[in-house]
Order: sequence, then structure tokens, then C-alpha cells
Amino acid sequence: MSTVATLPSQADAAKRQAYLEKMREVYAYQYSYNDTFATVLKLPDAEKPDCAYQYGSIKNLLSLLPSLPRILSTQIKQWLKRPITGYQDYLFFGRDSFPDTRFIDNFQSDAYFGLQRAIGINHVTLQGASSTNLLPTNFDLTRVRQLFPQLTAGDNFDSAFDNRRLFFVDYAMLQGLVDHQGEYAGRKQYVTAPLVLLYRQASGVLQPLAIQLNQIPSDTNPVFTPLDGLAWTAAKLYAQVADVNYQEFITHATRIHYLVESFVIATHQQLYKTHPVFLLLKPNLEYTLSVNVHHLFLKNSKGVPGDFGAQLAGDYDSMVELMSTAFKTYDFTANALPLDIAKREVDLPELFYPYAAEGRKIWDLTQAFVLDYLNLYYPNTKILAEDNEIQAWARFMADDDGMRIKGFPSRFETVEALAQAVGQIIFITTAHHSSIHYPQYLFSGFTPAMPFAAYEPAPTTIHCDLINQEYLLNALPLRQPSMTQAFIFYLTDFRLGQMGNYRLEAKAQTLVKNYREKLDALATQLNEDSTSRAYPYIYLNPSYIPNSVMV
Ligand SMILES: [Fe+2]
Repeated sequence: MSTVATLPSQADAAKRQAYLEKMREVYAYQYSYNDTFATVLKLPDAEKPDCAYQYGSIKNLLSLLPSLPRILSTQIKQWLKRPITGYQDYLFFGRDSFPDTRFIDNFQSDAYFGLQRAIGINHVTLQGASSTNLLPTNFDLTRVRQLFPQLTAGDNFDSAFDNRRLFFVDYAMLQGLVDHQGEYAGRKQYVTAPLVLLYRQASGVLQPLAIQLNQIPSDTNPVFTPLDGLAWTAAKLYAQVADVNYQEFITHATRIHYLVESFVIATHQQLYKTHPVFLLLKPNLEYTLSVNVHHLFLKNSKGVPGDFGAQLAGDYDSMVELMSTAFKTYDFTANALPLDIAKREVDLPELFYPYAAEGRKIWDLTQAFVLDYLNLYYPNTKILAEDNEIQAWARFMADDDGMRIKGFPSRFETVEALAQAVGQIIFITTAHHSSIHYPQYLFSGFTPAMPFAAYEPAPTTIHCDLINQEYLLNALPLRQPSMTQAFIFYLTDFRLGQMGNYRLEAKAQTLVKNYREKLDALATQLNEDSTSRAYPYIYLNPSYIPNSVMV
């Protein structure tokens, strides 16, 4: 039997308040990462992984059994301190562990570098250049303008700009890591804060044209192009290091996992267990606290930083500062998908960018479903205005004394506004997380393609004689951190549940059925389209999207 949803009323006010007081103790929180965002003090018992979760993770782990001889031989080589002899040494779990081996075989190619800006682990950094979204003025494009026809088979820079063929990624937020680079196992780490220029080809797929590895142009900070041989290969490697650092600290950990932790705390502290919004969001908020509680970044009681964070490229303080800044500069409303893709100017049908195309479809279906659902409980705005729990939830999300989420409405005047926020929470916990999390093993499980840190200084000239195959290999992490990187991404490459699964009361069931049918139809259409698309992409196919941030 599904729980019947109830709004707060005079009759049960005392009972609901007593329950919520208890929940405020169970979901007590502290501000972490330079006192910026909330994390629970202690994992509540109800948030501990259930049998289904444990079975899913163990099953995934057991699939590594055939790779055991290879894993052991890696460990032995590690103990014997055998040098790495080639990229094949980084295939810890074998080629077959990757969903697409074409990527492994071509990991240094321009084609796969360009593709990753649109379908990789950090695609939300992609921006379209135009007269309303100018290229960064600190990106020195003098040389690129001259070489442009050579790089693009005849096109010129100004016409490409006018025709919205130019795209870019700016990793300026990483400057703190660049200024305070870390060290891992006695080796100095290197990271840069690059600017990357891309060209939209006729197929819609992006092709990289230029990389400036640091923010301020200078003689020792040139712009690399595909005409620069191994210096270009090195520049792409450093851009990949920047991308994975940006993704882990900013896009993934802070702006999904810890943001969702705030949603979980607020929902349990402010909404009674039969509140319609609580019942709707319950499956979308499952498992996240049990994932987040793992010691990945912050120091433990003995003062030891989490190994995952330590392998990334900045020192401890710069990493904490970056996550703090990532949260403070995130605006909930501005990140609603339609506003986000419009602001980044990536909502072009000609561009191969599934997040804008497929993401938009999932967004619209979800928004419509949530609005219909909430209309069942709020037939007029008076009922919404009088719902003290939902108004307290909004205030708590936005308040400095609460979850401190910038841009979260501190009060809901209309059902549409509530639906927009609730629909956005569902989108973040399902489709958005899927598109950021699940490509991790494919694109970063093979460490040479995307290492957590570089271990040689970045090139400072396009004519650098030091850039050879040995340099590129020496720039990579050693075996142990590389295997950990691959292992973490493999281990977290499993799914439980499917978006759209809700066990709501009878009067909401038709809405759920319609929503699921529409998601299924979209999944079928995307499966049918997959053969004709520029590159297979499953991470925004509703049939692959779990119902929560469960890894
Ligand atoms: Fe994740």
C-alpha cells in the first residue's frame, strides 16, 4: 500500500512538529569545506545502504574477477618498483572492461578530445562563442586567426565566429590549484587552468583548434594548435587533467553530491513523512548520504586527507577552498537546464550536444509531471501559502542558517514555482548526475587519457625539444594511484533503480504511468536513433538513468 499524502493542518500540527523535531536531531548537520555547505554529522540509520544496494555493488565488484591475474601482476610490479614501459601498463582490468575500446585505442586523438567536451564527464563547462558570449579576452588568438583556414580546411575565423561555429571551455576556476599544486607519494603534481577553443564541424561534432594552458598569455604560455606535434599532444593531456579536476571538485562532488546532500537534509528536517513533496522526492534522495559519507576529500580524525582528493592536483587547502568557491558561486535558479544552456549558448540544433537536446526533453517531461502532481495537492495558491512545511523547506534551503543554496526560492508564491524547483531537484538527481558520473570509467578509467594530476611541468613553448614520448609517459601518475583511479570509477559504474519509478498513492498513479510511458518512448526513440548519431551516447537515455545519486 502506498502512503496517502497529507498537507499540514491544525489537527495534526503537534504530531508533525514532534516528528520533525526528532528528524532535526537525526539529520543534524555541520558546515564543511571552509564552513560553506552542510553535511550530516552522522549517517542516519535509515540512510545506510540496503541489501539491494550491497548486492549491486558486490556484483559489480565480482565482475572484476577475470582481471585478478592482471591486478596481482600490477601489484607485484609495484612492489618491485618496475618502471612503466608503455600505455598498456595502465589497462588494469583489460580492454574489455571499457564499454567502447575505440576510445582507448585513440585516446590522444583530436576527435576524442573534441567529443569529450560535449559528451564527457564535464560537459557543462562548454560554451558557445558569439557577440553576446564573447571569447575570453585573455585567450590570445592571434596565431589561431592566422592559421585558421589551415586548421579548418578553408573556413576563416570571423565567418566561423559569425556562424556560431566556435566554442570554448575556460578552466579559470582552477587557478587556486595552479597556485598551490600538490604532491603525491613524494612526486610533485602539476595542473594548469587552460582555455580551449573548439570548432563545430559539419557533423556537429567539435574539433579542438587551440589550447592556452594558463590564463595570462605570455612567451612561456603560448597557444598550442594541432600543428604543434607532440607539444599539442602534451597540451591536450594537461587540458584533460584540468577537466577531471574541475569535474571532481566543482561539477560532480560539490554541485551534485553535496548539493543533493543539502536537499536530503532539508527535506527530512522540514517535511513530514507524508507530505506530498517528501513522498515524491523520497526515491530521488536515496543512497546519496551513504555515498557522500565516504572519506574522499577532507582530513580524517588523524589529520590525513582522503586519498581520492590527495590524488587530484592541488594541495589540501586549495582543494577545500575550490569546493567552497564552487558552492558559493553556484546559483540554483540559473542552473535550471533551459536557462543554463541558453546562457552558455549551447542550445543549437546543429551542435552534437546531447545534454541540450536529450536533456531538454527529460527536463520538460519531468517539469510537466511534477506540476500535474502538485496540482493534485495545491488546487489554489492559498493552500500553498498556508503550507507552513513547504514554506519552511524553501526558507531553510536558501537561508544562511540553513542549506545556503544561492538562487533557491526562499518562498513559493505559485504552484508553478514550486514545481520548477522540485522538478529541478529530480533532474539533478537523475539525468544530470547520470551525464556527469557514468562516463567516468570510459573517459578517465584509462589513466593516460585523463590523469588526476600531471607529474611533469607543462610545456612552455611550442618548439619544446623536451616533449617526446618519454616525457608524456613520465607526466602520468604511477601504477598505484592510477589503479586506484581506475578502480574507483569501475566500482562506481553500476546502477540501481530507474528514473520515473515512484510508488505514490492511487490518485497520482495515472500521472506516474503517463510519465513513465513518455520516458520509455524517449528511451526507445534514442535507441532507434543511436545508429545514425555522431557517436553512441547512453548517459541521457532514460532506461539507463538511475532514480538517485546512488554512486
Ligand atoms: Fe556520482
